[in-house]
Amino acid sequence: MMRIFKRNTFKQFGDPPFEAPTPSAGPGARIIAVTSGKGGVGKTNISVNLAIALAQLGQRVIVFDADLGLANVEILLGIAPAVTLYDHIFNNRAMEKILFPGPGGIKIIPGGSGFLELANLTAEQHSRLVNGLEQLDRMADFVIIDTGAGIAKEVLAFCASADDVLVVVTPEPTSLTDAYGLIKVLDKFNLHRDVYFVVNQSNNESETSDTAYRLKTVVDKYLNIKANYLGDIVYDKFVIKSVKNQKPFILANPYSPASEAVKKIALSLLNRELPAAEERGLRGFISKLSRLFR
Ligand SMILES: Nc1ncnc2c1ncn2[C@@H]1O[C@H](COP(=O)(O)OP(=O)(O)OP(=O)(O)O)[C@@H](O)[C@H]1O
Ligand SMILES: [Mg+2]
Repeated sequence: MMRIFKRNTFKQFGDPPFEAPTPSAGPGARIIAVTSGKGGVGKTNISVNLAIALAQLGQRVIVFDADLGLANVEILLGIAPAVTLYDHIFNNRAMEKILFPGPGGIKIIPGGSGFLELANLTAEQHSRLVNGLEQLDRMADFVIIDTGAGIAKEVLAFCASADDVLVVVTPEPTSLTDAYGLIKVLDKFNLHRDVYFVVNQSNNESETSDTAYRLKTVVDKYLNIKANYLGDIVYDKFVIKSVKNQKPFILANPYSPASEAVKKIALSLLNRELPAAEERGLRGFISKLSRLFR
């Protein structure tokens, strides 16, 4: 695991002090789309803290901020990148120039509006993007994509193109209904055969098990998709505090209940085998994504 950046360097983002991580040979990164039916349930917090937990387990992790135009990850971390994926595609910025060092050894790619343009790329722009992503593929074991909420076409395209989908749900009835709605659409259009889900912001064990049970039962009963429960993260005041301080809770309060929970989820994710797929890693991701955006 490379930890080449001092923690306090990640706030100074004009031109990142980039040192490329050593590329490795291998099957490509595992792409996880973190998504939800309803907004505000904890996707961005989970994306960033799960990424750091995986990095702490020795994984090389890149977080893609794909909440188009809203820069969720950057706001959560208090950073202001001057360039995004858009600049890689349209302004010839090298991929390593938009790969920013984040806290805890992770790297961040700000999406900007880059992904929205996928449908309109020239052959040259498309091949630049594919080459850039192939470069990243060799640098990462995991790519975590923080998507927007809901069933917008772009969100569905990210989910369909990723190796794994991680749906975040809270015990709120609206969150549960919307999570079901999202999984239903993934099923209806045959975009995934299974999804993971985590219960976030539950107040106690019975609320967690009730939420997990309700979602799983209704998916099993009415849909052909499998919903795999990955774990839960309790409602934790340290999460709110860390959001205010723009510092990931897993670093600010490593032993708080939410941090311990995220570490468990990271371990559980690492222990799960990837289903066989024809196209894996970022190359597969972008070719599927481009098809869907067209
Ligand atoms: N486990 C938790 N305990 C307490 N509060 C939490 C927890 N998870 C999330 N929150 C609260 O929910 C807020 C929203 O979290 P976050 O920004 O990660 O959600 P999101 O799903 O990414 O939202 P959006 O859909 O707007 O992108 C946080 O600012 C925090 O206050
Ligand atoms: Mg978000």
